[in-house]
Amino acid sequence: MTYGIGLFLDLISNSQLDSGISFVGCGSATPQKIINNDQLGQRVDTNDQWIKSRTGIGERRVIGENESLIDLATKAAMNAVKMANWDVKTIDLIILATSTPEDLFGSAPKIQSNLGASNAVAFDLTAACSGFLFALVTASQYLVSGSMKRAVVIGADQLSKWVDWDDRKTCVLFGDGAGAVAMETIADESGLIGYDLKSDGSKGGCLNLSQSNVFSELVQGATHQKGEYLPIKMEGKEVYKFAVKEVPIILGKLLDKYKINSERIDWLLLHQANQRILDAVASRFSIPSEKVLSNLKYYGNTSAATIPLMLDEAVRDQRVKSGDLIACSGFGAGLSWGAALFYWHGPY
Ligand code: ACO
Repeated sequence: MTYGIGLFLDLISNSQLDSGISFVGCGSATPQKIINNDQLGQRVDTNDQWIKSRTGIGERRVIGENESLIDLATKAAMNAVKMANWDVKTIDLIILATSTPEDLFGSAPKIQSNLGASNAVAFDLTAACSGFLFALVTASQYLVSGSMKRAVVIGADQLSKWVDWDDRKTCVLFGDGAGAVAMETIADESGLIGYDLKSDGSKGGCLNLSQSNVFSELVQGATHQKGEYLPIKMEGKEVYKFAVKEVPIILGKLLDKYKINSERIDWLLLHQANQRILDAVASRFSIPSEKVLSNLKYYGNTSAATIPLMLDEAVRDQRVKSGDLIACSGFGAGLSWGAALFYWHGPY
């Protein structure tokens, strides 16, 4: 039977996945060095009480001299592959969501080679704190189209490189880390129920890590731009307002579309930016705090890593069990945001 290009496009377009995807593994890795709020208070005019009450963050981890983002990302991916019980040679696709690659040409191929996943294609994807969710949805397109069967999606960031450690308004928020999921096609009903992604570049100025616009002379009469970036700049209140407005809208529309009552959600898994944002979104859907996953206290905002890092922790300590329904949303610079509803199918 020929379905034609129309149905194919319909299938892979917004939100309706008919072919099955299963989430079968997760993993994470974090740097060894812990910096707590009191230690930050020795560098900038801040204190544990302010940081905890405004954000929920108690400490964060920072990549040190004998560590690297690629090593953390490789470890996270390997842990996900082991949980899935896959031979690395069966991986078709590796997507690294990051805004802080070690190489601007892309760090994913190095991770592919570290893993020994010689049959996979690997590439980077950048969407800041929404990056993991955007990468998960991107991977799902390859799987649902039937062109690939197994994908590893990694979220990893080293924002400590780009934070102004003398700016108390931003430096208290961020940390480094990596997380990953393993996903594959299945014949049965899809674990990925649906998703939606959004961006609004007109508000991008609220949060950026932009180039420095420094030019120097190349030859007489011609200049070239220096490859330099400025530290993270954020209008915290604007980003906060954006998150507590847009996340409930996008999640609410998804729940309505799939006729899922919020009482059916087993876990609310949001980008870990601020405990107050998690609480505000949970309260909008009357989701009790026991169902809200949060590890901000230990890691702060690890950007693209927060969602898989949190998922991995909750799967390994057996809070999240096979068959649980997860409502997930990522949001951040761009501005960009997205949501997905999925069932966890892993071995725990
Ligand atoms: N310690 C002590 N005081 C501080 C600190 C600090 N670390 N930071 C700011 N303050 C002070 C300010 O100077 C200000 O003082 P003033 O009133 O005398 O001027 C006061 O505290 C209030 O500052 P606000 O910025 O108004 O504080 P707010 O309650 O908005 O909290 C915060 C700031 C935590 C950043 C909050 O706005 C927030 O979480 N925003 C969202 C951030 C976010 O979600 N980012 C996610 C995306 S990240 C990505 O995509 C990479």
